[in-house]
This record gives sequence, C-alpha cells and structure tokens, in this order.
Amino acid sequence: MSTITFAEKIAEAQDFLPINGTDHIEFYVGNAKQAAHYYKTAFGFQSLAYAGPETGVRDRASYVLQQGKIRIVLTTALKSIHPISDHVKQHGDGVKILALWVDDAYSAFKETTRRGAMSYLEPETRTDEHGEVRISGIYTYGETVHLFVERKNYTGSFLPGYQPWKNDYNPTETGLLYIDHCVGNVGWNRMNETVKWYERVMGFVNILSFDDKQINTEYSALMSKVMSNGNGYSKFPINEPAEGKKKSQIEEYLEFYEGEGVQHIAVATKDILATVGELKARGVEFLSPPPETYYDLMPERIGEIDEEIEKLKALGILVDRDEEGYLLQIFTKPVEDRPTLFFEIIQRKGAQSFGAGNFKALFEALEREQESRGNL
Ligand code: FE2
Repeated sequence: MSTITFAEKIAEAQDFLPINGTDHIEFYVGNAKQAAHYYKTAFGFQSLAYAGPETGVRDRASYVLQQGKIRIVLTTALKSIHPISDHVKQHGDGVKILALWVDDAYSAFKETTRRGAMSYLEPETRTDEHGEVRISGIYTYGETVHLFVERKNYTGSFLPGYQPWKNDYNPTETGLLYIDHCVGNVGWNRMNETVKWYERVMGFVNILSFDDKQINTEYSALMSKVMSNGNGYSKFPINEPAEGKKKSQIEEYLEFYEGEGVQHIAVATKDILATVGELKARGVEFLSPPPETYYDLMPERIGEIDEEIEKLKALGILVDRDEEGYLLQIFTKPVEDRPTLFFEIIQRKGAQSFGAGNFKALFEALEREQESRGNL
C-alpha cells in the first residue's frame, strides 16, 4: 500500500488557479419554489436571497439557501423558450453550476481558457449598493459549468441582483457544514479525457484511482478517479461505466440525465448520527442499509471507533478506514424522479479517502434500487 499521503499528492497541483473553496451550487429545476421548500424542510437549509420578477428579474426565479458554508441556488425559467427550460427538459432537475470561490475571476478565466477551456461566461463585474462581484465561467463535462466568483469587495447577501430573502418559515439546520466533494458521471471512455482536462486546464492532480476490478459487484462495474486542486478544498471525483453482466448505475444515470453531469454532492457533518437521524425524521430517503454481516464484520475490518456500532446499524451508516483515520458515510436515494442526482452525508475522522471499502456494499444497495425501477 502506498505511503504517500493525500497532502503530498495534492502538493503536486499547480497554483495558476488558486481556489478558496466552493462558492455555491446552482440547480436548474422545474419548480424552484417547491424545491426550495424541500431543501429547507428536509435538509434544514436557511433562506438567504432571492431574485425574480419582484426584484426586477423578468425571465427566471432563483432561491438561494444556506447551511454552514454551503450555498445552493434553485432556479426555474418563467417561460418555455429559455435555455434553463431546455436544460430542464433534457436533463430533468439537476446541477448546472459548480461555482468556485477564487481571488481573481479575470485571471481564472484567462488561465483556464488559455489552456483549452470552453468559455461559458466572459469575465464581467456586477455591482450594486453592496459593492462588486467579478465573475466568469467555463464548461466542464456535459453541460455542467464551473463559475469563478471573486467577492472580496462585496458585502451583500449573495450576488448583485439578489435581495435578502426574509421568510417566516425557518426549519432548524441539520448540521450540514460544507461541500466535501462533487462527483461527475461521464460517458464510455471519457474518464481519462476528463481527468486530463482537470490536470491541464485547472492544474488539478489525480489523488486516487479505482478501476473496474476494485469497484464491481456480481452484475456491474465502474471506474473512478479523484481530482483535487492544490489546497484540497476542491475535489471532483469522475466516474465512468465499465462492462458488467448488467447495466451499471452510471449507465442508468447517463440514460436518464440524457448526458454527463453531477452524480452526487457530498456534504460534511461533525455528527453524522445526529444529522442522519434528523434527516430521516424529516423524510429524506436513504439507500437501503447493507446486510447485517456488514456490521458483524465491522470491528475486524475497521478496528476501534468512537461510535457505537448498534447506532450506526440502526441508521444504515457505512464506515471505512485508510492510513490516516476513518470516515462515516451514507447516501440518499435520488432527490428527483429521474434516477440521477443524490447526496452523500460524510463525517471524516482523519481519513481523506472516499470509502472504497464500502463501494461493494453501496453498489449492491444501489442495484437493489435500480432493479426495483426495472433498469438493471
Ligand atoms: Fe462521494
């Protein structure tokens, strides 16, 4: 087993694109008002900002929600003839924008397009009474976009054009703190191309790779490579389907998303037992738990941990260990009717990896769901 730590691998990344973390994630959805209610009620996000007809935006409505350092934006077009409507028609509800918080949005655009990125938004400066935000954007896999957001001279609630969103309905938070990683699914033979794109265009490094021999079940397989920026604040694992006896979950995603896109968003908590207990009580649906034997074998596989195994078992939480520590994780069912985007809840206790030891248990649970949809 390799003794190179993630910190050492990450140190090889190039720093022409300094990133301070995830700025926000924007979803294009069919009904942003109802989606916002779901994320407030079920996940405990708080109302932050709004843009729409009442604030002078004529063609769309956007609701911005916040919890910990996580900001999500839910946007719907108000007319059928609109790029957002086209996006929703093809992909269903899904992630359009993975926005990165940078120190210089103009330089981020220049450095990435110079290295071959396709432009989505030429650098521009947006201003209001709270200051200015500089913003630019490039396309990544599928129709997904990385925006670069520079907000050092801005004190408003979100971005110019948005008003603070005051609301009397404010369910409590569930302990979600920050985005740990966002995973993309790409098509056949597209993983290495995408990995090279992150290396060349973004200066990222490949910190972890899994092939189809490591990630497989009786029926299906996939390949995955994790890309990270230089400080480890931005991690984008990339999955590609692999040949198996039956259709893999990645193929099911690609079929129903009608293209490449974001498969899951992993959000971190400091207390996964409390967070998942709360999410379940509020109606968030999780993948079916692994078989009993998974927990029977846990002491042997993982060794000493702080949590009681009975409590983890009651909630179906998975545990994995690497050289640096352990992590606890659980996956929701897709959060829309198409079997596409889902969430991961993760608590890291030293481990910087992604739960490879759980892949088999996880994918067998995914396949049980897939079979129930008639898509296996
Ligand atoms: Fe993940």
